[in-house]
Amino acid sequence: MKTMNVGIIGYKFMGKAHSNAWSRAHQFFDMGIKPVMKVACGRHPDALREFADNWGWEEIETDWKKVVSRPDIDIIDICVPQYLHFDIAMAALKAGKHVFCEKPLAMNVEEARLLCEEADMHAGLIHYVNHNYRRCPAVMLAKQLIDEGKIGRIFHWRGAYLQDWIVDPNFPLTWHLQADKAGMGPQGDLNSHSVDLARFLIGEIESVSCMTANFITERVLPDEAASGTFNGTADTTAGKGKVTVEDAAFMHVRFTNGALGSFETTRFAPGRKNYNYFEIYGSKGSLVFNLERMNELQFFSLEDPSYAQGFKTIMVTEGEHAYISGWWPPGHIIGYEHEFVHAVVDFMKAIESKTQIFPNFHDGLRGLEILSAGLLSAKERKEIRV
Ligand SMILES: NC(=O)c1ccc[n+]([C@@H]2O[C@H](COP(=O)([O-])OP(=O)(O)OC[C@H]3O[C@@H](n4cnc5c(N)ncnc54)[C@H](O)[C@@H]3O)[C@@H](O)[C@H]2O)c1
Repeated sequence: MKTMNVGIIGYKFMGKAHSNAWSRAHQFFDMGIKPVMKVACGRHPDALREFADNWGWEEIETDWKKVVSRPDIDIIDICVPQYLHFDIAMAALKAGKHVFCEKPLAMNVEEARLLCEEADMHAGLIHYVNHNYRRCPAVMLAKQLIDEGKIGRIFHWRGAYLQDWIVDPNFPLTWHLQADKAGMGPQGDLNSHSVDLARFLIGEIESVSCMTANFITERVLPDEAASGTFNGTADTTAGKGKVTVEDAAFMHVRFTNGALGSFETTRFAPGRKNYNYFEIYGSKGSLVFNLERMNELQFFSLEDPSYAQGFKTIMVTEGEHAYISGWWPPGHIIGYEHEFVHAVVDFMKAIESKTQIFPNFHDGLRGLEILSAGLLSAKERKEIRV
């Protein structure tokens, strides 16, 4: 089997999710090209070595520039905070590597536009932004039902992406809460996923109107080495710093097809751990998805006889549902990590067939245009066309 070498940059939350995907994909799915886990990169050699040994990365390297410039590396996988995406992705494209990048694509629209321009100059290179929720079989079924006309003309998208991991005022100021590292708060982190799903399922967005809020404006500084996503350890000697991103963003949008949408995102919703939720309402029916019950899709059809109408819950675990035939028999459910495996499978297929994968850098750019316009709208307190 043909192989291609992968270099991964970043080894914490996403580093782990991606490593699992690179190692599992060819075991469950037929793939023309097998990814080889060649080199893992991070700043702390001891923790990096432990990570590499656990996940089967052959080598380690503490300087991402050396990984990107290695001639034997074919694919660069970016699992670091947003402020590093642009430099790494740009260097990778210039060095002729395929790029698998975490979301949001970049810190801002300008960076994302430059990345798209560079990507367009390398016709053979595959570029991908990891909005993994598109590759959840229940979301794919929602797309299928919409495309088959089962929902009819779509009137509404009602989305919410809610978490609760910074409600505690003693949670430290990790990189996610610093604008110069994260670019945005939950608007970029979580609404970027919801906006991607809405563009995938409903269509393009033409204007936005948004409100943001900050509930805690100052926090203790973190111990960077010990902190990651969802867990923060304070540096007890370092004092406090200002929160420079929004804590919550509620956005209304108009779609070009006339539908109205709402997007709620916050990290201040106690009990909501990773509540990625949407409802879609159309002239023939409705759909409801909740990531916390990700093997299910709720479907209401006005085409059912009125005496039998009601939301039904479809278990999306049949062989004919997207990706499921690679896994288990019906009813043997899948989980969060499987979406990443699906992304790797499709990414490698795209390389093999020389066809672009979606969402790619252009989708990443469009997403950032919408999300940034949302923050501007909140600042200027007006609806903004995008
Ligand atoms: N697709 C998803 O559902 C999802 C979920 C969480 C995070 N993300 C995205 O993934 C990216 C990483 O987030 P995370 O949650 O894994 O963060 P994390 O804090 O858990 O890990 C960040 C990693 O980056 C490394 N790093 C930082 N600076 C570095 C440098 N200069 N050189 C090499 N490595 C460096 C850190 O050592 C760490 O390994 C972010 O862009 C985030 O938005 C996506």
